[in-house]
Amino acid sequence: MPLLEGRHQIVVPCSPGIAPLLSREIRAQKLPVLEELATSVTTRGDFHAVLKLNLHLRCGQRVLWRLAAFKAEDADQLYAGLMPLPWEELIPADGYFTVTSIVDNPTIRDNRFANLRVKDAIVDRIRKRCGRRPDSGPRRDRLVFYLFWRGDEVRIYLDTSGPTLARRDYRLDPGKAPLRETLAAALVLTSGWEGKGSFLNPMCGSGTLAIEAALLARNIPPGLLRQEYSFQFLKDYKNREWRTLKAEARRRTRPDRRLRIIASDIDPAMIRLARENAERAGVGEVIEFIECDFAATPVPEGGGVVLCNPEYGSRLGAEEELKKTYRRLGDFFKQRAAGYTAWVFSGNPALMAEVGLRPAQRFKFDNGGIPCELASYPLYSGSLPA
Ligand SMILES: C[S@@+](CC[C@H](N)C(=O)[O-])C[C@H]1O[C@@H](n2cnc3c(N)ncnc32)[C@H](O)[C@@H]1O
Repeated sequence: MPLLEGRHQIVVPCSPGIAPLLSREIRAQKLPVLEELATSVTTRGDFHAVLKLNLHLRCGQRVLWRLAAFKAEDADQLYAGLMPLPWEELIPADGYFTVTSIVDNPTIRDNRFANLRVKDAIVDRIRKRCGRRPDSGPRRDRLVFYLFWRGDEVRIYLDTSGPTLARRDYRLDPGKAPLRETLAAALVLTSGWEGKGSFLNPMCGSGTLAIEAALLARNIPPGLLRQEYSFQFLKDYKNREWRTLKAEARRRTRPDRRLRIIASDIDPAMIRLARENAERAGVGEVIEFIECDFAATPVPEGGGVVLCNPEYGSRLGAEEELKKTYRRLGDFFKQRAAGYTAWVFSGNPALMAEVGLRPAQRFKFDNGGIPCELASYPLYSGSLPA
């Protein structure tokens, strides 16, 4: 299958603020970083690398395998450029695919028209070669092709992930105001916690931060649980390579590593949900779940990380009430968490200021379109107020 052979460019999109962490993850898989942009990282590798990235990346959104790059000034040239590609080697004649795109070309007013031309080229080619044609439509749960068309530069990718890699399949019910798993992993990675000292996650909600921390510290790849990826719908796809990769990754996990992770929430329904999610993720016995006000969260001796994601007004809770919560959070840090580094993730700077401590570091992220910040507060005994 020439389209899947050799080394190709591989693009991994991500949300703002995450690219430097993603570059680190890609290098950890022994792949080069060719380009790091605000919302994507480009590497190069063979199709085996694509499988590895799908399995191991904690904060990338999807893994795009470049199929071709050419020039097209209008939709006819786009069609003509796509027709010679051996699509019949990728898509079963009775298969299903979808096309998505980012288009900035003066002749195209509606992306759907560009998508349609891509679909036409694929279907016409397969019909000519095989006498039958695959189905296409909007569903992303089979094969997905991505068109990037800027000016006259066309790049066409196979989206090997399909649904976003944030979907790890451990969170069936996300609860209220959950963090995307990829963002939660990025926050844990930024905190630097990898298993040394305790990891405390007051206001844990559905448990995403605590679960991602446990997966990281036990070296469990985030893609181990997930059952379906787009690449599995490729024609002649053999499961063996994927199974071998997963088995190798399973051998490298550290199931016996002792960890101290405590997750608490005032809402019993959230604690129930978080516990179920953790069990599904295979880290249920690692995390201690406690139903309590955040200020009553046990703080073991020996230091570590306290990471929390309080509500920040735009979705839940009234701002005045929340100001009190953030003030109390600052008091909790100062009075109870000496020896820890506290981290607060929020999308409301006015509320962040209520914590009353001077942040040592601040990192910008994006949560569902809302600019957010992760601020760190190292808590030495006798921390100075801001
Ligand atoms: C924004 S959500 C956290 C979402 C979480 N990061 C996730 O991914 O699901 C905030 C959580 O704080 C909890 N909460 C609010 N006030 C609290 C308090 N005083 N003590 C403990 N938990 C509280 C809420 O029940 C809610 O689950």
